[in-house]
Amino acid sequence: MKKFHEPSSKKNRGNGCSRNGLAKSETLLFLKTFLKNPSHVGALAPSSRSLADAMTDFPWLFEARTVVELGCGTGAITEAILQKIPPAANYLGIELDGRCIEHLRVRFPNRAFYHGSAAEMCKYLAEQGAGAPDVIISGLPWAVLPQEVQDAIISQVVQCLAPDGMFLTFAYVHARVLPRAQRLKRQLDHCFGEVKTSRTIWKNFPPAFYYLCNEPKVDNDWQE
Ligand SMILES: C[S@@+](CC[C@H](N)C(=O)[O-])C[C@H]1O[C@@H](n2cnc3c(N)ncnc32)[C@H](O)[C@@H]1O
Repeated sequence: MKKFHEPSSKKNRGNGCSRNGLAKSETLLFLKTFLKNPSHVGALAPSSRSLADAMTDFPWLFEARTVVELGCGTGAITEAILQKIPPAANYLGIELDGRCIEHLRVRFPNRAFYHGSAAEMCKYLAEQGAGAPDVIISGLPWAVLPQEVQDAIISQVVQCLAPDGMFLTFAYVHARVLPRAQRLKRQLDHCFGEVKTSRTIWKNFPPAFYYLCNEPKVDNDWQE
């Protein structure tokens, strides 16, 4: 059984990351993306390095063969993932916003980014010829996503994830009481054998936590 939040040595493997002085414009790009489409973005600023590290500092990520990231934004969590996975591992990022996709392809030139919805994940994995992902990491704004989109994405996660794979998704502490956020927790509890809640990561704006889910139940009959 994989352990929850077991600390691992932090190595910068530098695989596929190129900063090229782009960092300064990222907060602005993120804010512009939010202003253009607040209901898709759901946050005013990219995730902090503290949140990205908390979600990626797992020994099993250092051994992953296929990793999928949903809702990459400007690449705050992407950078941490790519620094930790083995250089030969498959990485596939999925992002709905076209300007973020352009930015991600410049920032991480050797990695695959799909411009589309996380609800198409299984199709993109098949196109890339990748196996079932060992790890799926989500930065999606669940609290603002329509119910049918949330259902379609969770269904794809459960179908695509390897049977012993891990699914991680963050949420904001202040939004925990919102009906869609509470529905997501019920859905995760229904669709996975185990769901753990992390500590609060205070060094993030706004403060956040994440769920770590395993044992996907492919034949779940989720309805609500
Ligand atoms: C809260 S932001 C997080 C961005 C980044 N992961 C971070 O932590 O800074 C959510 C991102 O999810 C993207 N997004 C929203 N709905 C999506 C969908 N159905 N499929 C893929 N990406 C989506 C938005 O465009 C936005 O970039």
